[in-house]
Parts: sequence; structure tokens; C-alpha cells
Amino acid sequence: MIHIILRKKLSCFVLAFFLFAIVCVWKEMKKGSYYDSLKWETEGSPLVMGLGKMAMGSGPQSKVSTQHLRRSNQALNCTKASAKAKPQPSFQVWNKDSSSKNLPSRLQNIRKNYLNMNKYKVSYKGPGPGVKLSAEALRCHLRNHVNVSMVESIDFPFNTSEWEGYLPKENIRTKAGPWGKCAVVSSAGSLKSSQLGREIDDHDAVLRFNAAPTANFQQDVGTKTTIRLINSQLVTIEGRFLKDSLYNEGILIVWDPSVYHSDIPEWYQHPDYSFFNNYKSYRKMHPNQPFYILRPQMPWELWDILQEISPEEIQPNPPSSGMLGIMIMMTLCDQVDIYEFLPSKRKTDICYYYQKFFDIACTMGAYHPLLFEKNMVKHLNQGADEDIYLHGKATLPGFRSTHC
Ligand SMILES: *[C@@H]1O[C@H](CO)[C@@H](O)[C@H](O)[C@H]1NC(C)=O
Ligand SMILES: *[C@@H]1O[C@H](CO)[C@@H](O)[C@H](O)[C@H]1NC(C)=O
Ligand SMILES: *[C@@H]1O[C@H](CO)[C@@H](O)[C@H](O)[C@H]1NC(C)=O
Repeated sequence: MIHIILRKKLSCFVLAFFLFAIVCVWKEMKKGSYYDSLKWETEGSPLVMGLGKMAMGSGPQSKVSTQHLRRSNQALNCTKASAKAKPQPSFQVWNKDSSSKNLPSRLQNIRKNYLNMNKYKVSYKGPGPGVKLSAEALRCHLRNHVNVSMVESIDFPFNTSEWEGYLPKENIRTKAGPWGKCAVVSSAGSLKSSQLGREIDDHDAVLRFNAAPTANFQQDVGTKTTIRLINSQLVTIEGRFLKDSLYNEGILIVWDPSVYHSDIPEWYQHPDYSFFNNYKSYRKMHPNQPFYILRPQMPWELWDILQEISPEEIQPNPPSSGMLGIMIMMTLCDQVDIYEFLPSKRKTDICYYYQKFFDIACTMGAYHPLLFEKNMVKHLNQGADEDIYLHGKATLPGFRSTHC
């Protein structure tokens, strides 16, 4: 009798031991998953709490695991094994539902001022705000409604004698792509010390913005420039536009904000910056370099979708060059890797990697509806959050590989 009881007790003990051992091993395995590691790290700026929230969303599961661990700790000490495990970094990245309420009050006020000013006479009549679309549906929506194309020599008034010979003869599609893997390199200060140069150069085509240099920054931003997207302000008022050899490489595309949904003749009468004379001067100096003018309707076609999917009013100003560049590459490439548009762990208030100028508006947006653009890119991202956190890299499929 006693013998049997002892045996029963022994087998119970053995069973319990195995149970706790399994719990210990399971705990260690769970630690390997960084989503889980975030459960314990929900502090941090509300704007980058996306992952924290996601982990908290798995509430019931995490409660169970905590109970298990407590129970097991009472009988068997698991902490020795845990102490041996490497501490896991947390990967807090951009939250795709970031709201303007989380902006510093200065930027909230700037946004309100732009809403009141409505410089471009925006009168949005589309669906929304706050229409929820899956990433796939949003990609199709963008592909079908944002016409990425350039001003052509048949468009009035570019068909007049005043413009004869100035616009490139070939359609941009014959000069650019189609490419496989493309890189869009932001000018963010957080590219400094990123060591991403080699990875960026490894792409079939690289798009850069405005005056962003590669010389002296090759290690971090690479050397290749296939397309440079520049704003009309730079062409108009920066004396060095006509002199600096920085602009002589690759395909140039200039864009200028128009009044909301005005057509080319209307816009031509009232450009934001009258860049046309300097455009012509540059063309005379570099007739063989492709230099396109983005159709002024395109930024507003994109803006409409940003407004449609955002749950609040976005700044009634055109999207950032960054967002326009992403759209351009999505039309020319199968895959677009975007560097430091969604900030990495190197996130800084330094605006550009090539200047010592501090302003949080460069990351969060003041004039441009940058916050909402970043929400959209995060929603479309197919890469891992780890890549955003470590490399500032988001990966979007191009429209050519989008089946609608
Ligand atoms: C487990 O062991 C550690 C030292 O290795 C000790 O600090 C801790 O209090 C122990 N916990 C339990 C529940 O026995
Ligand atoms: C896009 O714009 C170009 C130039 O105006 C036009 O020729 C083309 O038909 C447009 N494409 C779509 C899909 O609307
Ligand atoms: C330019 O285009 C406009 C509008 O399509 C047309 O009316 C005009 O005749 C064209 N001008 C020339 C010189 O072809």
C-alpha cells in the first residue's frame, strides 16, 4: 500500500517537474519573438507605440503566460535559465494609426494654421475621411487613381513655339525602368552613420531628393543616383542649381504645387514657383540629360487618397517630395525599398544627413501631411518591423506586381 502511494507521489512529482521544465523552455522560446518582448516595454513616445499596442492586443494570451510563469516560479526557479538568455532589443516603430493629437503643440498649431489658410483652395469631396482599406485594396486604389506621368510637349502651353525643343522627347517610361528592386533614399538626418551605402547601391535604381549629396556620404547613402526628384523652389531660387554638378547625374524630375486639381494651363498661369526660365536654362546647358516636369495633377490625386484613408483632416498642402518619390518608384519598379522615411532607432531631430539643422517638423511634418503619409507607408509595408527599427527600411511592392 505505502509502496503504491509512494510510487504515485513520485510519478506526480516527475510529471510536475516535466511540466515546469516545458514551461521554462517555452518561456525562453517566447523571448526570442520580439513582438512578445514588447509586452514588457510599452513605455515610449505614443507615436512609436504601434508594436506595443499590437502586443497588448494579444491580451488573453499574455495573461495566461504570466500566470504560468508565476506558478512555475513558486515551485521551480526558472530565472537562472532566463538570466543566461541574451537581452532582446525592442523594436518600437512607427504606428500606422498615429494621430495629430500626439504631435508637439507647436506642430499641432502649424497644422491648424494651414487648415485655416488653405492656400491651394482644397475642396475635398471624395469618400472618407477614415475609410479603412486593406493594404492590397489601398495599393490598387493608388494604382488606379494616381496617374504618375510627366508634362508632355503636346500639352498646352508646352506645345507652343516658346517651348519648342525644351521638354524631353521620349516618354519617361522609355528612359526609366522597368526595374526590379529600387531604393528611395530620404534625406533624413538618421541616415548619418547608418552604413547603408552598399545596400542602397545594390538596387537596380536609386531615387534621391533635392540637394541630397552622395559625395562624402557614400558609406551611409551610397553613390548611385538614377533619378533625382527636385522641387520647383530649388530650381527657382537656389543659385547653385545651374552650377552644382550634383544635379548632372541621372534623370531629373521637377515638381511644383498647383492650386487643387487645376489642369496644366491653369497651373501654368499660377505656379507656386515660377521655375520655367531656370528649367529652360538648365536644359540648354544639359540637353542630353533627361529632365521631366511632373504633371501637376499627380500630387493632388495622391493627396485625395491620403485624405480619404486618414481619420482626421490632413494639411491641405501637397504631399512631401518623399511621398511623391515613393509613388514614382512604385510605378517603375517591382519592389521599392524606402530608407529612413519611417524612422529607425537612429531617429533624430536633425533634418538632413548633410546639414546641421534641427527641427522635429522634418520627421513629423508641418507644411506637408507627413504624419499621414508615414501612416500610409507603414500600412503598405511588407517588410519586417525589425528592418524599420534597425535600418529605417520599409519595403513596398510596385504596381507592376500588383494584381487588382
Ligand atoms: C530564483 O533564483 C534567483 C537567483 O538565481 C533569486 O534571486 C530569486 O529570488 C529566485 N526566485 C524564486 C521564485 O525562488
Ligand atoms: C495619365 O496621364 C497621361 C498624360 O496626361 C494620359 O495620357 C494618360 O491617359 C493618363 N492615364 C490614365 C490611366 O489616366
Ligand atoms: C496646343 O494645344 C492646344 C490644346 O490642345 C491646341 O488648341 C493648340 O492648337 C495647340 N497648339 C499648337 C501650336 O499645336
